Amino acid sequence: MTKRDFLAMEDWSPEQIDHLLALAVRCKRGEIDGGLVKKVLAMVFMDPSLRTRASMETAMFLHGGHALCLEPGKGSWALETDLDVVMDGTTVEHIIEMARVLSRYADAIAVRSFPKGSDWGVERADHTIRNFARYSDKPVINLESSRRHPCQGLADALTLREHLGETRAKRFVLMWAWHPKALPTAVPASAAIAAAHLGMQVTIARPAGYDLDRDDYATIRALADQRGGSLEVTDDVDGAIDGAHAVYPKAWGSLAHFGNPEAERAGREGKRDWRLTAARMRMTAGGQGIAMHCLPVRRNVEMDGEVLDGPQSAVIDEAENRLHVQRALLLELIG
Ligand code: CP
Repeated sequence: MTKRDFLAMEDWSPEQIDHLLALAVRCKRGEIDGGLVKKVLAMVFMDPSLRTRASMETAMFLHGGHALCLEPGKGSWALETDLDVVMDGTTVEHIIEMARVLSRYADAIAVRSFPKGSDWGVERADHTIRNFARYSDKPVINLESSRRHPCQGLADALTLREHLGETRAKRFVLMWAWHPKALPTAVPASAAIAAAHLGMQVTIARPAGYDLDRDDYATIRALADQRGGSLEVTDDVDGAIDGAHAVYPKAWGSLAHFGNPEAERAGREGKRDWRLTAARMRMTAGGQGIAMHCLPVRRNVEMDGEVLDGPQSAVIDEAENRLHVQRALLLELIG
């Protein structure tokens, strides 16, 4: 039987994603017990996490399974991800053996690996997560790679449905936010894909020079068209937020300056007002739009504390929903 990976939301059909979301609702309502007894999830974290690690471990526990966690270079061997390397440097274990060995112990492998190189032309191939999938005999789950954070996208979709009810024709704004560091584009791309899946009118508000990858725009636009929604890209952040039903501020670095922190920092200068404020939330649909974020969030940098703590904030529901969508995903893949 062919194994099924979960590397990007758009790799699965809209019907399969809707099935997962429906299963997540049933998990959240407490309708599903067991299903993963004696199942093992091997998690490989090459980068830090709070929500992803805690919710995955909890999901496996709740359904009777076990999750083990490896952090290459911190208790497990330093990992080499270059397929053609001569390993005479500091790395000890190769990704090919890691994927093959964990496939013998576990029923699925889940991997977090942020972009690390200095060339977006290389990083955009998402080679680390795709090589895990290539060399693993068991399903591989993406816990955030260079290009996608599909578990976050599922949680975003579930949260939008819970808070907005019918999502078609409603307006979702992905808003670039200032941040002291250049962050990856996996979360913003995945959030926009989730909103497109829901048939929403998606607006990406970003300053000039901060476009997502061209393939991300094509993916979001194609999915939005298929699902009855739309995609608009603008540098008018206030115009975008005016009448929006959901606003998702998120920092990401300029792909044009990928791997060049000085040019990137210069590009961000003068843009600290790209922040979700209470005044901007009053401009949303009926002043009642919701504020979203994947977390962790820089308070009073990406989003004001009074928005995070206010009645329109959906961020804690969004974090909770990571647990329920991942329960559904694990049940679907290995249950
Ligand atoms: N949203 C998210 O993935 O959180 P962590 O980085 O804490 O896992």
